[in-house]
Amino acid sequence: MPAPRRATIAERTLRTDRWWVQPLLTVVALVLFIIYATFRAFQNAYYLSEPYISPFYSPCITTQCEGDTFPELFTGPAWISPALYILIFPLGFRLTCYYYRKAYYRSFWLSPPACAVAEPHRRYSGESRFPLVLNNGHRYFFYAGLVFNVILSYDAVLAFRDPDGAWGHMGLGTLVLLANAVLLWLYSLSCHSCRHIVGGRLNAFSRHPLRYRFWTVASRLNAHHMRWAWTSLFGVALTDLYVLLVASDTIRDLRFF
Ligand code: FES
Repeated sequence: MPAPRRATIAERTLRTDRWWVQPLLTVVALVLFIIYATFRAFQNAYYLSEPYISPFYSPCITTQCEGDTFPELFTGPAWISPALYILIFPLGFRLTCYYYRKAYYRSFWLSPPACAVAEPHRRYSGESRFPLVLNNGHRYFFYAGLVFNVILSYDAVLAFRDPDGAWGHMGLGTLVLLANAVLLWLYSLSCHSCRHIVGGRLNAFSRHPLRYRFWTVASRLNAHHMRWAWTSLFGVALTDLYVLLVASDTIRDLRFF
């Protein structure tokens, strides 16, 4: 059976509300983040102020890295920022995320820009061709994202030291790194792939009570996945900004004890 055609309506949309506000805000927010993150990833400076490290540079895996937060795995050219070696994993995780796919398909490609608003494209191939077919690899980026969450949580634990490495201290930066790690966990655990991994392909939940529990928690978080996607994105940027300001002596870290 041929697919039914769209109704022939001359207008692009019959909506009279401001349907364009949401895609516009999405474009503005994502473009601002991309500009900031690109600048910081290439800056190759001000990413460490003991005991805090920026999430853009963690894990820092080359011998050019400042500090000693992670095993230095190789020596790369000094002009290559350590952030660039690890960028593909958080970037791939976000780019292939089901929520962000919806967000950028709508706001950047207008495909479609909003419900009941016709898209400008004549043809539609979905995610069956390169490069969008790569979006189907989301679950592998999810696994990589979990590894990063563990590392950034470890960074938050290390932040309970003072600048000289003595344990049992805390500053505002400790709270910032902790909040960032929590938001990243909420974002990952609310992932659609996570929900399927823990609770999918089962015939009877009654035979898998533990997985049923995980699935219940993942499902509850999943209902707010968009919220965790945005708050964790802002969280990463603000955490990096805090480390940048402290490392460049623009502000002083507020020490509690
Ligand atoms: S669906 Fe958004 S992180 Fe997996």
